[in-house]
Amino acid sequence: MSLEFNAYSKENQLNPYPAYHRLREEAPVYYGDWGKQGKFWVLTRYKDIDRVLRNAKDFPNSLGPGTKGMTDDGRPFLVLNGIDPPDHTRVRRVIAPFFTPRALESREPLIHDVCNDVIDSILASGNNPFDLIADYANHIVSAVMFDMLGVPSSLRERYKAWTEDYNRVQGGHAGEKEKANFRDFYDDTYLLMEERRRNPGPDLISILVKAADHEALISEQEAHDNIMVLFVAGLETTEKLIGNAVVALVENPEEYAKVLEDRSLVRSLVEETLRYDGSVLNVMRTAAVDVEIGGQLIRKGERLMLALASSGRDPDQFPDPDRFDVKRSPNDHLDFGEGPHACPGMWLARIEARVAVGTLLDRMPGFRLDPAQFDDSNRFQSIINRGFLRLDVHFDPALASKRTTT
Ligand code: HEM
Repeated sequence: MSLEFNAYSKENQLNPYPAYHRLREEAPVYYGDWGKQGKFWVLTRYKDIDRVLRNAKDFPNSLGPGTKGMTDDGRPFLVLNGIDPPDHTRVRRVIAPFFTPRALESREPLIHDVCNDVIDSILASGNNPFDLIADYANHIVSAVMFDMLGVPSSLRERYKAWTEDYNRVQGGHAGEKEKANFRDFYDDTYLLMEERRRNPGPDLISILVKAADHEALISEQEAHDNIMVLFVAGLETTEKLIGNAVVALVENPEEYAKVLEDRSLVRSLVEETLRYDGSVLNVMRTAAVDVEIGGQLIRKGERLMLALASSGRDPDQFPDPDRFDVKRSPNDHLDFGEGPHACPGMWLARIEARVAVGTLLDRMPGFRLDPAQFDDSNRFQSIINRGFLRLDVHFDPALASKRTTT
């Protein structure tokens, strides 16, 4: 095979689309050995990725290194993304009612309020330009998630900082300070559970504690570990998606004009961003049996990287895949995964992104971003997540409008 693909090169982490294009055409099931960073198969075609995601029996999550080594005593970390059915089904059933489209609709007014509050504070502070990622998207997604979890306001800043430490520990690049912070996060989550036990409410932490105590559906440890993952999983992903959506609009003026003309298109703008430039690039699996995919024999125990970002650009699934089309339909992208591990937060993320982008369009008409900052060098460098480090937004205070009620 002549094609050489380096999953960890800076170039491919900052912009994997050109390499994925070649892999899809020349080596859609590619085996690479990246030394210390591991060796694994890279799948780039939609149909192969979809097939693996739906088959949790032959490609389980618990076999991978995923969350191993996250605890000091070496015990397994029982988060949803590291376990398989039937345990996975049992734990997931506890949180599922919280994340249905219906349950989340009732949160939409709160999400509108949060977005408006953040715009109000930007206007009041005269922060112009402001950073779309840190000053807008991050405040929105963390306020919404911490409200759902039931974290008291006094503790929110501390937990927010800890979510970054979690990512570093999970990614295997944490220093001593981050490891110590992770231990505090770990221990304090038990204290938070204790507090909810004394003062239960309609929040996610109370629901998980109740499922562990009274209903014996899950263990105390399962409740604890999944509270930690819920703190983390929806922040960076959704915050980056909001940035990617705004950039895609600015880079595609004809599509931008369509959205300004018909605001209901913000819904499909979010779907199209997930397909065209989503915030999760890849997920990993391990084969539990020998299996053939695309003419290649994958042996039991070998790892696979499923290139979700590539599946969104596969011409066999999406006509004219490199075109950003806010009216694209159907749009069955895989950026939230598929099968039993598909993202439980997908409806929450969709509402957050839709309301965040919609509120920005409503309240800061004519906002501007200098396209020079869309350069790859302003991208977060990662094999997992895709998004911008910062995005300066300029606005005209005279045009900025007052908040609207929902
Ligand atoms: C744009 C935003 C988001 C994207 C692109 C995204 C993407 C994904 C993907 C691809 C998976 C599947 C991973 C796999 O198959 O191995 C996943 C799982 C997960 N996501 Fe999200 N996610 C987003 C937002 C959220 C939010 C808001 C939450 C909050 C609750 C969340 C919580 C989770 C959890 C707990 C899992 C593990 C589920 C399981 O293994 O059963 N995500 N996400």
